[in-house]
This record gives sequence, structure tokens and C-alpha cells, in this order.
Amino acid sequence: MLTNLWYVAEWSATVKDKPVKARLLGQNLVLFRDKSGQVNCLSDICIHRGGSLSNGWTTERDCVACPYHGWEFDAEGKVQFIPSRGEGSDVPDRARIDAYPVEERYGMIWVFMGDLPAEERYPIPPFPEFDDRENWRPVEAEFTWNADVSRVVENGIDIAHTSFVHPGFGYREMADKNHMVKMQRDEYSGSSSCVLYPPPMKGNAGLMRFARKDKAETHVHPAFYLSGHCVRLHIQVNSWMEMIIFDANSPVDENTTRSFVVQVRNFFKWGMFDKGSVKRTLKVFREDAAIVEALSPHYLPQSLEAEVSVEQDKFMGAWRRVLRTHIEEKGWKIDSKAMAPYLDEKVFTVASPGRRANPHLRWALDPVPLVPPLGQPLNVVPDVEDKQA
Ligand code: FES
Ligand SMILES: [Fe+2]
Repeated sequence: MLTNLWYVAEWSATVKDKPVKARLLGQNLVLFRDKSGQVNCLSDICIHRGGSLSNGWTTERDCVACPYHGWEFDAEGKVQFIPSRGEGSDVPDRARIDAYPVEERYGMIWVFMGDLPAEERYPIPPFPEFDDRENWRPVEAEFTWNADVSRVVENGIDIAHTSFVHPGFGYREMADKNHMVKMQRDEYSGSSSCVLYPPPMKGNAGLMRFARKDKAETHVHPAFYLSGHCVRLHIQVNSWMEMIIFDANSPVDENTTRSFVVQVRNFFKWGMFDKGSVKRTLKVFREDAAIVEALSPHYLPQSLEAEVSVEQDKFMGAWRRVLRTHIEEKGWKIDSKAMAPYLDEKVFTVASPGRRANPHLRWALDPVPLVPPLGQPLNVVPDVEDKQA
């Protein structure tokens, strides 16, 4: 799991006037909306005696109050009021917890889980179609995987599996015809274009059957973003029907991934078709989970040499390369093994921007340890074995 990235913590609509518990990177977080409507995110641990702030309440001071002794924490994570000391009394300098930057985008609450200053953060992935209601109709869905997030993302951008895992999108006997046309990658994202030959679309009372002829050439554009560990799948069904499945895949912990999914379509834009869209999207996730939750090893192998890859796996190689760069060169990987001996005895929190901006401050909780970078350029191993394939 990587720090220093934006991740989706919750749907916007879920956070109203009460604090809400969220979980990212194995950390408990509290989300609360202040009077101006802004959502704030703090570590969900009171530094007095370890109370869970998400079980508390929001206050007149625009704080979240701990349910144990009522200490009030502001949006910056600083304690503003300690009831046992009385109104107007001072507050110890160490009475603060980590506060994380928050943005609301695409009906989701994005939390920056790291200590980088704003100008160094990778952007939240673009999704302009979400706000273009004239041309696109959105529906939301959600799916939880018992799997590591890097496996989930890799599955999302893998086109070769569709012929075997998703009968609605591909034929086994056409598997050798599916192919990638182009791909590109930068420091934190990648995109590609592929051609598939799927069966006619099902659903919507048979209307979809007319949308695409059997085995008609269909263009699919998968993309990935390190921010939010997002996958964007743009499917051009025919010359006038397109859909985009945008999912933010949040690492809840090492074994759990929560996917926040928004699908937009530029056809059948009436509400009566929403239910079918959600149903078909979730069916695809269930088909994927049956495979992904049974993969070995649990995590993506660190080295490409531990597996055999072919030309059509090149785009997944791009995702792995982006991950490895941020683990081995930038040192953003959380060292879960280093924390394991302290289980249930000590709490670590992901370092927030407040720590880096105020190095003189003393904090009650230690930051989560990170795997040190290799301190040297990546070992260059080939992305694929059979370049001629
Ligand atoms: S534990 Fe939170 S106020 Fe005491
Ligand atoms: Fe899939």
C-alpha cells in the first residue's frame, strides 16, 4: 500500500451532519462536515485515551468531539476544548492528531493520505463526463474485494481475461483476435486502446441486442491512475453508444479493497435504465472477484521475473512499473511488516502535511514506517518475453 496519494474514503452523500468512520491504508479515519459544508478528515484516534472520534459528534466550534471525555478536535486535528479543564483554559501543544486534505469530486470524498505539500501531489484523475449531464447519465455502484488493491487495478486494465471471465464481453474462441492497438505511460498514469469482438449486449428488455452485432469490432480504452488507484474503462459499443466505467479502488487494508464505481452512458439516459446498468456492472465485478481473490501470491510479485509475460500483457507491465518506481525510487510503500510486532499495543498514523510543515511540533503518535527506497535506479528487466508475439 502506498502513501502520498489521493484515495476515495467514502461517497459524498454518506457524510451529512454526523461523523462517519472510514478506513484507508489500514488506518481508521473520521470524516465530518463543518457548518460551511466542507468535509474534514482526521485520524480516528483521540490522543487523550484512544477514543474513536467517529463515535462522537460535531460541535458548535466546528469540531468533532470525542465520545469518551468530550475533547474537541478542529479541522486541523488540533484540540480546541478540553471540558475537564473548563472554558478558556489552554490546551497542551501535543494535543493534536493528523489531519488530511479533503476534496469532493464525482460524488466521492477524496482524502490525501500523506505529507506532501499541495504542489507536489499528483492530481485527482480527470472525469469530465461526470459533470456533463446533458450528454452522460451516471449511476453509482460499490464493490468490496478480499484482495490486495494492486491486483484489483491490474485486473481492471487487463483485456485478455475478458474472453474467459466475462461471457457478456467475449468469446473464448475469439481470444486470439482481441488485441491492443496502442498504449502509453507517464510517471503516474497510463492509457491504452484495444479491439475486442464481444457477443450482442444483453439487458434493457432486449433493446441492447440491436446495439451491437455479434462479434462486431468494439473499441475499448483502459486507463489507470496512481491517484485513487483508479481504473477508467471507456467502451465504444458502436458509433453512437459509449460508456465509461470509472472506479476508484481504495486500499482499506492489505486484504481488502473497496471499489467506488461510477458508470456513465451516453444512451438510454432515462432513469428506468439505471437499475440494469448497475446490475450488469456488479455482475462483471463478481466475475472478476472469483478470479482475483484466488490469485497467488496475494500481492503482485515485486519482480517481473517471477512470472512469464507476453506482448498482450504489456499494459499491465506499465502499471507494475509505475508502482515499482514509487516503491523503489520514492519510498512510498507502507512497511506493514515493521508494524506487525506492535499489533494491538501501539498505533501508528500516516504522516499528514502538518508534520512536514511544522517539523518542530511533537506528536503523541509515531508515523507509519515506510519501506526505504533502493537509492538506485530500477533494475531494468524486460516488460515482455516474446517481443514478436
Ligand atoms: S479519550 Fe477522547 S477525550 Fe478522553
Ligand atoms: Fe474483468
